[in-house]
Amino acid sequence: MLTAITQLLLGVILICLSAFYLFSRHRYGYWKKRGVPQVEEPVLFFGNLPFLMRKSFFDAVSEWTKKYKNDYFGMYFGWTPALVVNSQELAKHVLVKDFDSFQNRFSYSGLDDDPLGSLNLFSVKNPIWGQMRTDISPMFTSARLKGFANLMNTNSTELVKRVQTDFIDNKEPVDFKKLFLMYTSDTVAYTVFGIRVSVLKEGMSPLWSITCNMLKWTFWRGLEFTLIFFVPVVAAIFKFKFFSKEATDYVKKLFWDVVEERKRTGLTNDTDLVNLLLKLKANLKLPAESGTDLADNLMLAQAAVFILGSIETSSTTLSYCIHELSHHPEEQEKLYREVSKALEASGKDILDYNDLLEIKYLTACIHETLRKYPPVQLLDRACNKTFKWKDLTVDAGTPVYINVLGIHYNEKVYPQPDEWRPERFINSSDNDNNDFNFLPFGEGPRFCIGKRYGMTQIRCALAQLITKYRFEPDSPYKVVSDPYSVLLTPKHDTKTKIFARS
Ligand code: HEM
Repeated sequence: MLTAITQLLLGVILICLSAFYLFSRHRYGYWKKRGVPQVEEPVLFFGNLPFLMRKSFFDAVSEWTKKYKNDYFGMYFGWTPALVVNSQELAKHVLVKDFDSFQNRFSYSGLDDDPLGSLNLFSVKNPIWGQMRTDISPMFTSARLKGFANLMNTNSTELVKRVQTDFIDNKEPVDFKKLFLMYTSDTVAYTVFGIRVSVLKEGMSPLWSITCNMLKWTFWRGLEFTLIFFVPVVAAIFKFKFFSKEATDYVKKLFWDVVEERKRTGLTNDTDLVNLLLKLKANLKLPAESGTDLADNLMLAQAAVFILGSIETSSTTLSYCIHELSHHPEEQEKLYREVSKALEASGKDILDYNDLLEIKYLTACIHETLRKYPPVQLLDRACNKTFKWKDLTVDAGTPVYINVLGIHYNEKVYPQPDEWRPERFINSSDNDNNDFNFLPFGEGPRFCIGKRYGMTQIRCALAQLITKYRFEPDSPYKVVSDPYSVLLTPKHDTKTKIFARS
């Protein structure tokens, strides 16, 4: 009897293993069958992602870029065949010309378990995305940006003071990343919630608790986030979330506290996101059966993604820019001279939105930093309609990733791409994507909605810091990136020595 059961069990296991083997062989032969160059052999379960959580995406994508120079190549993220695009010409089709076939992102978080993660502008799918994008765009008009720039300047002055008291007076090197997180957190507190708080000045703020929670890249948090982006099917099985429960609760509480306060006092703030979202909710055209929950979650999701989008990316860019300047004294002095000249010409103590836009070398330093260290290395799109380009056919359902890092390190466009040379961008403006060879903010209808806000935030802080201080390196030139974070961020503190300019 026992032998019969054992034999049956063994038979079932054997059949399962054979089915699994055949399924894997079939899946992992997808690209070869289509004549698409397939990179290194996929590993069972992981596909081409066995490096996850051991190596950062920045480092992994750098390695792919050095090895595979074709216009595109095939990979497997888990079992899913994914196409990685190196060619700026093909990128133009995916992002802009054939947007009809690539309207949504591939990354996904479940609606029921993670409404803020699935309904925010970054992850939400069409048709809701189209409506949201149109409704939220007025948040970034030039008039509003000028107002935000004044606030960013006030916070940059606080940043300069904090550097003086904590580091110059104590003769300590600075870890700028943490200070930049505080600076961007103070700014978003006002632009999203209309509250004037300052962790830089007071050591604590309600937004700072949210920031610390959202951007704590532990192993598990990193794994959750990575799988949502690259293997969403696994993320769905394990119900992984874009925002942690604590971050979601913090955002909800702060949002509704602000709304209650406005109802109670009758005071509103016409420039912040809460105000825009409340108006948007009143005009939303949602299916009748969706109830008020969907509308509320849609508002909260936008607030949450603004916080995430505006803090990590800008603070990382600022940190890498200061790091490069500290290792490039000549470029640093040139930037100092250009900013000083603009200050003198303006007759002001602090440069405003328009003055800052005029400083070509400031733009060049920021663009070159974004080229060398794009915070987002792969732009994801899900193909929703069969797409053809030359010999390539992409089936509906296939994820396509534009290799921003690969495009930014193309030696034909940027000779010696490992070198940081602001001169490459000396005549570039914020609207210039160098014929799709410069994509740190993405492109096409789904490009970064906060691009001008992000650039302004970086300009304000950098201009005030360079006016007051001189930087020298206190850590090695090569910065190790954090393997737990999908967005580029340094693994360790990048210390910089600072000296007051007389
Ligand atoms: C240095 C600063 C920033 C960088 C490098 C950056 C980068 C990006 C990139 C690469 C994308 C994807 C674009 C695409 O797929 O084509 C994106 C999307 C997005 N970003 Fe940013 N970003 C920055 C600042 C900001 C700021 C300040 C905000 C908010 C105030 C923001 C909010 C968003 C949102 C909501 C999306 C989704 C847009 C959509 O799908 O319609 N970002 N960003």
